[in-house]
Amino acid sequence: LPNGLALTPPMGWNDWNAFGCDVSAQLVEQTADKLVSSGLAADGYRSVNIDDCWMAPNRDAEGNLVPDPVKFPDGIKAVADYVHGKGLKLGIYETAGTKTCAGYPGSLGHETADANLFASWGVDYLKYDNCYNQGVPSKQRYQAMGSALAATGRPIVYSLCSWGTEDVASWGGTVGNLWRTTGDISAGFGSMLDIFHTNVQLAKDAGPGGWNDPDMLEVGNGMSVTEDQTEFTLWAEMAAPLISGTDLRTASPDTLRILGNRDVIAVDQDPLGKQGTGISSSGGLDVLAKPLSDGSVAVVLFNENATAATISTTAAAAGVPSSSNGGYALKDLWTGRTTISGGTISAAVPGHGTVMYRVSPATTRQLPPSTTLLTTL
Ligand code: DGJ
Repeated sequence: LPNGLALTPPMGWNDWNAFGCDVSAQLVEQTADKLVSSGLAADGYRSVNIDDCWMAPNRDAEGNLVPDPVKFPDGIKAVADYVHGKGLKLGIYETAGTKTCAGYPGSLGHETADANLFASWGVDYLKYDNCYNQGVPSKQRYQAMGSALAATGRPIVYSLCSWGTEDVASWGGTVGNLWRTTGDISAGFGSMLDIFHTNVQLAKDAGPGGWNDPDMLEVGNGMSVTEDQTEFTLWAEMAAPLISGTDLRTASPDTLRILGNRDVIAVDQDPLGKQGTGISSSGGLDVLAKPLSDGSVAVVLFNENATAATISTTAAAAGVPSSSNGGYALKDLWTGRTTISGGTISAAVPGHGTVMYRVSPATTRQLPPSTTLLTTL
């Protein structure tokens, strides 16, 4: 959506995956504190997003939405003020239907009033769900709220939680800043893999201001560390929104290390805004390539199978421009080590694991001395 927002994929946190309906002002504010103290805010995780179940069961006499008085005793604006005071943004949730998925009042037919209320509270991001939609075409329902948000004059990132229905990827970019391409993720390798297979095919629809959304991260919620690292790698390669869905207040060192990998985040947030695509796939061994703004390419070797395997490709197949000296620098974004290659990109990849390289033409300074000599001669 050309509203000037989400020029790179949104980054932040959302309560749903880890807490379901158990959301509260305290949880949101403690998470904001942890985003700052852990360094994740500085890494780019700036939007603290409230999901379903933040409301009281009914609108008030004027027809306005009412925050649950127990979960949000001082209302949403107080939480927005707190979060803004930390240099962060606040996200909220509603539904393009008569009820939210958990049964609270929906926004269908109340778009203008609800958008104005959110803007008056200082909300910066709206996740707009798809339950109880009365069979009204989704583009119409999502456009109605989009127009209402635009009319508020407040910059509000607009997230279409449309579950990949009604071919949303083909029109999502004219209505919102991101759109869900699948049903809900769960914290298991199979769920993550299914979503990856769908989302990776939609690369042509993504770009600055409009992103395919394969759902929130499950890093820290129960997969193995290898699988968590794989999810994060694949999501970054697909220029997906990086919305942590775990309890950051109690997150393990591995979880914080994975979410905080700045080299991988830089692939996701690369300003060129190209979603990575599959360049080969055979027997559950996949190679993906994502062109980056500096001319390098992020190459992912992904092993879908449970046992280790060697996966190989070449710099040429990945679209890396060749250098005059014929060498390529391969930076492994999880170990931080750089190796020099004549063009082969190959690694032993653990079961359910990934290896991610940032591949660029080698500078002569990076080549081993003998190679330099040969090229000079
Ligand atoms: C369905 C969405 O896809 C989920 O991400 C979550 O927002 C729930 N609804 C909340 O009810």
